[in-house]
Amino acid sequence: MDIDPALVADVRWSFYNEAMKARPSTIDIALVAPASLKLVVYPDSILKKIAADVRQFDDWLVAVTERMKDVMVEHKGVGLAAPQVGLGLRIFVAAESAKREDAKVYINPVLTDERGSEEGEEGCLSLPTIRIKVPRFTHVRVEALDERGRPFSENLTDYTARIIQHENDHLDGILLLDRMSPVAKLANRRKVRELEERVKGPRK
Ligand code: CO
Repeated sequence: MDIDPALVADVRWSFYNEAMKARPSTIDIALVAPASLKLVVYPDSILKKIAADVRQFDDWLVAVTERMKDVMVEHKGVGLAAPQVGLGLRIFVAAESAKREDAKVYINPVLTDERGSEEGEEGCLSLPTIRIKVPRFTHVRVEALDERGRPFSENLTDYTARIIQHENDHLDGILLLDRMSPVAKLANRRKVRELEERVKGPRK
């Protein structure tokens, strides 16, 4: 691979902010077979954890991102974050069109320049049957690395900005449930309980 480590380090340094201090500095993920990754549904505990930065860019990582695109398309999503396939890593894929060929990979993303606010309906592949209205910024800037560790940035608006904010939430263990208004919480109480009751026996 032809990544200039100094360049990556520079970008990573520019990403440094207060929030990163709270993140895990090491990650101990068994090198699971990317092909075995599948959708994880609430209340799996991985969905509530803060994901760790990706530090190694290799073929395994590329295979993981390819598999994530498959899972996203298979479940007709417009975005999917690594915790949703059981990996506590700061990776998500997104495609407003829900088409595989449009799916873009965002690694160690940082959102800045957040402006404007709008409510819109959202669902989540890890929270089937639940749809709620969530206020999001109408404009965000995202700085991230692609699957080969190359930095890029984008200014996003409206629906695309909404998708990226939803997926980025997953990397911080934040679910739609955490974004619900008290009224929505009440209205969705039964659906949430049904999801919780699907799980038979304790999970780690
Ligand atoms: Co989601």
